[in-house]
Amino acid sequence: MEQTILNSDGYSIFIGNTVFDTVRSYLIQYEFKENKIFILVDENTRKYCLPRLMSNIQLPQEVHILETPSGEEFKTLDTSHKLWSELTINGADRSSILINLGGGVISDLGGFVASSFKRGIKYLNIPTTLLSMVDASIGGKVGIDMDGLKNQIGMFSNPQAVFIIPEFLDTLPEFQKRNGYAEIIKHSLVYDKNYWDEISGKSFKDIDNWKEIIDWSIEIKNYFVTEDPLETGFRKVLNFGHTIGHAVESYSFQFGDEGLSHGEAVAIGIICESYISHKHAGLSEGELSEILLYISSNFDHYTFHPGYFEHLLELMHHDKKNIANNINFTLLTNIGNSIINEVVDIALVRESLMYYQNLFV
Ligand SMILES: NC(=O)c1ccc[n+]([C@@H]2O[C@H](COP(=O)([O-])OP(=O)(O)OC[C@H]3O[C@@H](n4cnc5c(N)ncnc54)[C@H](O)[C@@H]3O)[C@@H](O)[C@H]2O)c1
Ligand SMILES: [Zn+2]
Repeated sequence: MEQTILNSDGYSIFIGNTVFDTVRSYLIQYEFKENKIFILVDENTRKYCLPRLMSNIQLPQEVHILETPSGEEFKTLDTSHKLWSELTINGADRSSILINLGGGVISDLGGFVASSFKRGIKYLNIPTTLLSMVDASIGGKVGIDMDGLKNQIGMFSNPQAVFIIPEFLDTLPEFQKRNGYAEIIKHSLVYDKNYWDEISGKSFKDIDNWKEIIDWSIEIKNYFVTEDPLETGFRKVLNFGHTIGHAVESYSFQFGDEGLSHGEAVAIGIICESYISHKHAGLSEGELSEILLYISSNFDHYTFHPGYFEHLLELMHHDKKNIANNINFTLLTNIGNSIINEVVDIALVRESLMYYQNLFV
């Protein structure tokens, strides 16, 4: 399988199963030959991904493994402190490099720890979940959660390189793959009608060539982040589905029996925000139905009590992407085209939640 190489904001993204060789040549080059290499894993990536990485890259130099328990609840200052201590005890210095081998929690946390240790050491991302391959590992946003607020502390800091090896998806549970798939759907909707036509012709379960989809999806994310690395405007296109998605995600944790995954919440957000796009931004009824049909055949329906809609609206007001008291949306004008900073009437947002709620009753 071919290797794809994309240039991002000062670093390269390599995609393909032969990328193991590229990781090896990157790490044995002169710059790192003498320096300490650290690999950050959680218990799952230690079990499923680390042996595969190590046996494929066969490094001549010693490698230090740092492990943290998996889960968003460990993306914290406390974990960062532990990792900074381990780096210190193991003699990490400014010439050391940290490799983040894992999902978005590992790349957010590891990127943050590396970028703040001794004013910043180099780091690489080797994402192992679909979500981190197409989203979290690219774009330079790193950080941790604080007091229940997601990504409250962090910075923009780019990796030295990103190595995407689709083979790692072999051990990823299906619900985790579906989680990343919502972002793939989003990428196609906001920017590329051909890509949408391609993916919407197939059910999620029938996808066998992940490399092709990852290539396509990253190209879109990479386009927006390189044009607007600090998210001052244009990059907000990538927030489509996320204004309502984030509120639904928080709601499901506070009131549901068990929380929705980020991807499931974004899928709901995409349906509601497509409805708003239809009413507010000219998305045709036909395209709205197309989106609705594809998402509902790939994601389960979720029920929220209509009495909680006010609470959801409240959560949206608190979204850090909103300015003053307006609810700010990225909307579709048609599939493949989007507009940012659309201020939407609260009544229409409520209506979109009702639309979703009443879909299958
Ligand atoms: N920085 C960004 O731009 C950005 C963008 C999107 C999301 N994120 C962040 O990403 C995080 C979510 O990422 P995620 O969904 O990858 O979650 P995650 O890192 O928690 O990984 C999900 C689970 O899959 C396991 N796992 C990882 N790779 C595996 C493999 N190959 N085989 C078997 N199990 C494997 C992990 O151990 C974990 O239990 C959130 O914290 C979110 O805020 C960041
Ligand atoms: Zn997302």
